[in-house]
Amino acid sequence: MNLQPFALERFFAAYEFSTRRILCASDCEALTLSDVLALATPEAAALWGDLSLGYTQSAGHPRLRQEIARLYAGLSPEQTLVLAPEEGIYLAMLALLEPGDHVVCMFPGYQSLYAVAEAHGCTVSRWRPRQSDDRWVFALDDLAALLRSDTRLLVVNLPHNPTGALMSPDEWFDLLALCAARELLLFSDEMYRGLELTGHPRLGAACDLYPRAVSLAGLSKTLSAPGLRIGWLAAQDEALLARCAALKDYTTICSSAPGELLALMVLQASQRIMAANRTLIESNAALWDAFVRDHADRLTWSLPRGGSVAFPQYRGRGDADAFCRAAREEADVLLAPGSLWGYAEHFRVGLGRRSAPEAIDALDSWLKRS
Ligand SMILES: Cc1ncc(COP(=O)(O)O)c(C=O)c1O
Repeated sequence: MNLQPFALERFFAAYEFSTRRILCASDCEALTLSDVLALATPEAAALWGDLSLGYTQSAGHPRLRQEIARLYAGLSPEQTLVLAPEEGIYLAMLALLEPGDHVVCMFPGYQSLYAVAEAHGCTVSRWRPRQSDDRWVFALDDLAALLRSDTRLLVVNLPHNPTGALMSPDEWFDLLALCAARELLLFSDEMYRGLELTGHPRLGAACDLYPRAVSLAGLSKTLSAPGLRIGWLAAQDEALLARCAALKDYTTICSSAPGELLALMVLQASQRIMAANRTLIESNAALWDAFVRDHADRLTWSLPRGGSVAFPQYRGRGDADAFCRAAREEADVLLAPGSLWGYAEHFRVGLGRRSAPEAIDALDSWLKRS
């Protein structure tokens, strides 16, 4: 497989731990180990006390799978597979696709959602959003125009990274109906589901609504625990999950024992954690909005409808790459240039961390000076 370098991950590897203020992360403020242990129910605390650091069950700890299944309307624990989120994309693409298949994927997007299929010998058509009425819209007409008679898989990510786009429930049902009419497989990256902003309803999970769908979710974004490296695939199709599980034997074999139990504790408090993250994002989004209005000669943006990131446009002199480089070098603020996604006029801003106000202040002072 000829996997291309993962542009965003290489960018973070270069700058995330050497820049003082990170204003482009897609995770939400991370919990500490003591926060999580304080959330533990008596049952989880007992499991933690007796935890063996041996290998774990390949498909995931049975209690964790039970808790994951409870997040869905009609799935059983057997219809879930625990793994690291990024691993879930990789394994599902290999399990779902054959070389030569045609795939349609939302773009711009998280690179592995299309790059694994491409490296596997598939042709990927990019479904690009329109920017209309100050929001990003993935139009179903545009999707329909990309579908071919041999299209096997549609890949979606809602709420969307990096634009913050979200469909309405009616649009979502129309999309699922289109998939059903064409008998498409659907990979639905739901890593940001739960972070819908006020006025924008949460969409039903694809795996609940469509028998040929696989949903990906996890603790990295909505639940403030990316360092646990715990996520899952959920699908009605158990045979598909079994194929992914067989491939997992070639990646991690099983998940980390402490990670699984800490994930159980986090999931048992998930409503509280997600609500706190939504409040933080809304408050950071209001500050960012005021900042953009103050610098309207150089910046414009569409408010996200969900998720923790947005994709503003740079309209000043030079391009967004140069703007982000200068912000890093002169203000010690990390913004992710849109060129990482092939969108040279844009950049990604992350709104899920408590340090965002300080980073926005630093950018503001810098722009007023320069
Ligand atoms: C849309 C999307 N899917 C999957 C992932 C992978 O999550 P993780 O980094 O926890 O493996 C990310 C991470 O940024 C993401 O944004």
